[in-house]
Amino acid sequence: MSTPITRVGIVGGGQMGAGIAEVCARAGLDTIVCEADTLAARAARERIAVSLERAMQRGKLDRISAECALERTVFTASLDDLADRQLVIEAIAENPAAKTEVFAALDKIVEDPEAILATNTSSIPVMHLGMATRRADRVLGLHFFNPVPVLPLVEVVASLHTSPETATVVADFASGVLGRTVVRSQDRAGFVVNALLVPYLLSAIRMAESGFATATDVDAGMELGCAHPMGPLKLADLIGLDTVASIAESLYDEFKEPLYAPPPLLQRMVEAGLLGRKTGRGFHTYD
Ligand code: CAA
Repeated sequence: MSTPITRVGIVGGGQMGAGIAEVCARAGLDTIVCEADTLAARAARERIAVSLERAMQRGKLDRISAECALERTVFTASLDDLADRQLVIEAIAENPAAKTEVFAALDKIVEDPEAILATNTSSIPVMHLGMATRRADRVLGLHFFNPVPVLPLVEVVASLHTSPETATVVADFASGVLGRTVVRSQDRAGFVVNALLVPYLLSAIRMAESGFATATDVDAGMELGCAHPMGPLKLADLIGLDTVASIAESLYDEFKEPLYAPPPLLQRMVEAGLLGRKTGRGFHTYD
């Protein structure tokens, strides 16, 4: 791509999509967030406003920059509004069929044939999404970490069809414009971080499930014994237990290793709607 990326679109305004949009807007980019309907679009705006407020309270951002970031972010419920984007980052739930549908639609809507389509998936093969388009060479993974405004890493994931130029343009954009640290990964479920993190989270869930230790003690063990900022069960609650289960399923599908199999307790909690922080209850309870 010869012109610098200044117009970005984010599909999905949940905790990851809103975080990615916030980082883009704070970097001065013309940012559009697309949600499923106007109610969800309003919720995405509120999520970003709350996070900007928190950044101001923590002294990371001044009020004018926060107001400008929110002003330059447009919220819509129509994918058609992404037609003029140079980069679109999909950040909807970890559902392969839904993501494939979004990529097929974006391919038709986004006009510039040079525009790049990225996915924030943490575990679904990037190539499957690329092959839903006629520009698989311009489709790649751009995986952020939660909370996005706080954690500086992104994984750049090239599929077998992604052109080296696309991966370089996006890696340069992520480091130069968004100020992120980039690690590159091949297109395998879990990439680098989740392939290491998720078996650890699942082991912690199995410990709690078997009654070996309480959730509080498992978390205290890793926070106070290993200086992790949060224990594994608090972290699973932060990520969302539905998301942890989806990632575990993708890893298990890919590698068929028992260490990736979602434990029954995780499955039951997801079925019960106990998804962690976002529903107020997971392994811990939240106000
Ligand atoms: N914008 C910018 N900075 C912000 C901010 C915002 N909206 N909100 C908070 N911060 C900054 C704070 O200023 C603070 O920075 P300093 O240490 O420099 O002062 C830092 O972030 C911590 O903020 P808080 O004091 O508010 O919160 P905390 O100390 O309770 O930490 C936490 C909360 C950041 C979530 C921390 O517990 C943490 O990092 N936990 C681990 C999270 C993690 O591992 N995430 C990865 C999940 S895996 C994933 O996302 C991938 C996947 O696919 C599932």
